[in-house]
Amino acid sequence: LLTPPVAQDLAGVRVVVSAGPTREYLDPVRFISNPSSGKMGFAVALEAQSRGAEVTLVTGPVTLPDLAGVRMVRVETALEMKAAVDESAQTAAIVVMTAAIADYRAAQQSGEKQAKVAGDVSIHLTPNPDILAGLGAEQPHHPQRVLVGFAMETHAGIERAALKAQRKNADFILLNYPTREGTSFGGDDNQVTLVRPDATSEDWPRMSKREVARKILDEALKVRNLRLS
Ligand code: CTP
Ligand code: CA
Repeated sequence: LLTPPVAQDLAGVRVVVSAGPTREYLDPVRFISNPSSGKMGFAVALEAQSRGAEVTLVTGPVTLPDLAGVRMVRVETALEMKAAVDESAQTAAIVVMTAAIADYRAAQQSGEKQAKVAGDVSIHLTPNPDILAGLGAEQPHHPQRVLVGFAMETHAGIERAALKAQRKNADFILLNYPTREGTSFGGDDNQVTLVRPDATSEDWPRMSKREVARKILDEALKVRNLRLS
């Protein structure tokens, strides 16, 4: 049986994808994190690779295996993810930030395991840098680079996602809601709404993460071609 060849419409295009959670260590054996599975980002990386792109996948700790033909960069913390994304994004045409980056890290990390104490404890957290916003701020030096973000919102999704796209200078953001049936953390499907900085939006039906990845890259390519023309 012959399967039709996949169009190589990203041949030679450099694509950087971030995926998974980050881990923010409190001490050598404890960390703050979230349940991101990495599946959405791995799907984008695989889809881009199959269309001929030169792909770098920067991923936090996930259980997914390396993708053949993709440059894999495995990191743990938000600061490590920022260093890896910033470096590879310098020469990228498209950057897709699916990673669920922890907004805060411990202000002080203990080098030793902290023993428990009687009574309450509090942890002093300090903000992590915003990786996507950092890339957005550099866009004047990368006028053709396309920046894509993700956002999960519980309310006022389109408005909040559009404001995020504006603030971070992203070309578009894929919005989802934690309450959407069958699209929770770790699932194989996703249902997202594409939101642009001007608050125009498109609801996409529920589909596999690979199909969402295909449509994201179609849209990114459209933005890029408009920009190159
Ligand atoms: N993002 C990032 N660096 C961070 C936080 C988020 O690059 N430190 C990226 C995410 O990968 C995602 C987009 O920004 O593509 C939106 O993430 P989100 O957490 O929704 O945005 P925040 O600005 O952190 O807003 P919130 O207060 O709603 O968490
Ligand atoms: Ca956040």
